[in-house]
Amino acid sequence: MKNPQLYNAIFHRKSIRKYNMTPLPADTLGKLQEYASSTKPLDESIRYEFVYLGSADVKNLLPIKAPHYICLYSQIKGNYLMNAGFLLQQIDLYLSANNLASCWLGMAKPSKEVPKQINGLEFVIMLAFGNTTEPIYRANTSEFMRKSLSEISSVADADSMLEPVRLAPSSSNTQPWFFSGDGDVMTVSRKKLNLLKAPFYGKMNQIDIGIALFHLWLSGNHQGKVVSYSFDKDAAPNGYEFMAKATISMN
Ligand SMILES: Cc1cc2nc3c(=O)[nH]c(=O)nc-3n(C[C@H](O)[C@H](O)[C@H](O)COP(=O)(O)O)c2cc1C
Repeated sequence: MKNPQLYNAIFHRKSIRKYNMTPLPADTLGKLQEYASSTKPLDESIRYEFVYLGSADVKNLLPIKAPHYICLYSQIKGNYLMNAGFLLQQIDLYLSANNLASCWLGMAKPSKEVPKQINGLEFVIMLAFGNTTEPIYRANTSEFMRKSLSEISSVADADSMLEPVRLAPSSSNTQPWFFSGDGDVMTVSRKKLNLLKAPFYGKMNQIDIGIALFHLWLSGNHQGKVVSYSFDKDAAPNGYEFMAKATISMN
């Protein structure tokens, strides 16, 4: 799978919640596993593994049954939640680019029979995937329910760079991201939460930021640029929390 195919998937993908329960062919799963082993992490120092589960192995608080699930297990340290979003969004786009349906599942957990820890790593989040009889693509970007660019960015002349980021999926479509700075160095921030929402969305929104960072990386790649990230705390706009700094340079 090449980056341009992943990039194109950004403009058409959508979450699918109804699956055909027939398992996918072994060959299709094998190719997915091969791709998964080549994904790039946001933070190389965090150990992680992808774990593949079937429908009987998952406890889902919402009625989304799928023939397959891909889980991210991770070391719990530093930016592991952003790292999880960055990694699994590569899988989400890969699945869409390969005509397969998928959905992020923040509400699902592996069942009791699945070990809580695998090789010292803990379950973080999973995607459901498989075939569906529903259409899996949006015809164009007007079908995405998203905030406008002016609501999520104060960066001048960065519309083409940020449009693919604007379309990123997020938990309950919260789109918690905000971009400030300029076209060379952007600050990526996350909307501060009220305390009632903090326990669940406090985690989910960090995964969301990781997803947005992967879309930004792909967007830069599409424009012949390199996007690199650093995480030393810095100022964020009012009402937002600093998450990352993106440095964008010519390839
Ligand atoms: C981290 C994360 C967790 C999510 N959890 C769930 C979930 O538990 N159940 C669900 O139906 N959708 C879930 N979603 C899907 C979002 O609701 C969906 O991405 C968002 O509404 C945007 O719609 P789209 O993906 O079709 O563009 C999740 C998405 C993300 C990124």
